[in-house]
Amino acid sequence: MQHDKVLILDFGSQYTQLIARRVRELNIYSEIFPFNKIPTNLDEYKAVILSGSPMSVRSDDAFHPELKGIRGVKPMLAVCYGAQYLAHFSGGEVAESNTREYGRANLSFVEEDAFLKNISAGSQVWMSHSDTIKSLPTNGKLLASTHDVKNAAYKIEGETTYAIQFHPEVYHSTDGKQLLENFLVDIANVNPDWTPNAFVGETVEALQEKIGNDKVVLGLSGGVDSSVAAMLLHKAIGENLYCIFVNNGLLRKNEFTDVLEQYKGMGLNVKGVDASARFLDALVGLSDPELKRKAIGNAFIEVFDQEANLIEDVTYLAQGTIYPDIIESVSATGGPSATIKSHHNVGGLPDFMKLKIVEPLKALFKDEVRRVGASMDMDPTLLGRHPFPGPGLAIRILGDITAEKVRILQEVDAVFINGLRDAGLYDKVWQAGAILLPVNSVGVMGDERTYEKCVALRAVESTDGMTADWVNLPYEFLQKTSNDIINKVKGVNRVVYDISSKPPATIEWE
Ligand code: XMP
Repeated sequence: MQHDKVLILDFGSQYTQLIARRVRELNIYSEIFPFNKIPTNLDEYKAVILSGSPMSVRSDDAFHPELKGIRGVKPMLAVCYGAQYLAHFSGGEVAESNTREYGRANLSFVEEDAFLKNISAGSQVWMSHSDTIKSLPTNGKLLASTHDVKNAAYKIEGETTYAIQFHPEVYHSTDGKQLLENFLVDIANVNPDWTPNAFVGETVEALQEKIGNDKVVLGLSGGVDSSVAAMLLHKAIGENLYCIFVNNGLLRKNEFTDVLEQYKGMGLNVKGVDASARFLDALVGLSDPELKRKAIGNAFIEVFDQEANLIEDVTYLAQGTIYPDIIESVSATGGPSATIKSHHNVGGLPDFMKLKIVEPLKALFKDEVRRVGASMDMDPTLLGRHPFPGPGLAIRILGDITAEKVRILQEVDAVFINGLRDAGLYDKVWQAGAILLPVNSVGVMGDERTYEKCVALRAVESTDGMTADWVNLPYEFLQKTSNDIINKVKGVNRVVYDISSKPPATIEWE
């Protein structure tokens, strides 16, 4: 890729990934590295951003980045901890703050500078820190203040080094993106040419070069990541991409047939494998969530391996891994550590498959995957699908799984999800689904007493699934959905709505 790159050094701030996203929204490619694992190929990066941190620069174990080859050499923007780090260790002073420095504040300018271009006086910024910069480092020149924070933005004279106490990456900093653009485009001369179209063109070329005439197998899940990965590979190698879409019997109602048809309509070389019976067999008698996950993971590997073996001379396994799956960040407690999340789309295929791996989306965030999909004219309904867990309805049926329970939950889920679509609420919700509880309760239908199942509905707002808030769905909608479920789905006489957020609850119940 011949694009200017920006290096973001992570000091463990909860907002580091947001910095990368904002930079990428400016069509500039950025990568995050832990502050203590600075890449050796620094020449490839046109500018550097230092993140915030939960750590204090005054602490004995304050994080010390090795800025040789960066500071004074490349344009550098230091955010929050970064700004305090520069001050504390380069001739300034940082002390514990005795005023509230959390939340909204308004900027007032002290000095005109290209860094502040198009930022309005009084612009709202987001503060989140407990130490404060008492005096600037050597050659520091104050650019802007807020009511409570005098040294809110400064630069170092004689260098292209800028520092800000607030967080430009969070949406509450209303001109944050403009500020990043001023620094990156105007000051650091970074070329903002990293667009979804450019990504598609270059990725397709790179895939063709890497794969040549070899064959690739890919497990489609019906979700956004594997579908976009498949489209990119399809553009690159056409019929040499063999997609396998496994029905584990735990998908949503009609999902297997509907999505399979959709894939075929996209021109993908896809084989649908209905292995429902095999999965349900593997689950018999299992109630423990982790055992259920394991059984499903193992069954998937067996089925996938068997199918992949039917393709002659396949060399590569493609996966829909995305950037947050592989990103390494700094843990706030216990010092810097690698917290690499394991990728669970494909359940981690074992080495015995002896296939080389290709992951065309591994540099992208989820919203970028969607933008790339849109630039390939993929169906917005497919791109906007809610996340759905690999083990499917098995982890939404609490306790053991039977075909009848799957049927009930598929019906309930369909009423709920179709209802969300009909009410125009589907796209306002990050993820939604129904949970079949291991509870029977008494009801009365007609003149008869019933003793039937209870289901819970769950709808959450989130950006990445790490934290989530329950959604305040309109009462009228809940009322109608509850009526529809109880009237239409045999075996259910009670509906409840889950009003727990994550944390402390999780999105799935198991
Ligand atoms: P939790 O329940 O941990 O879920 O709040 C966070 C997100 O991850 C999804 N999830 C899974 N996805 N395999 C998956 O592929 C799993 O075992 C799994 N468990 C949870 C969940 O649906 C939510 O989007």
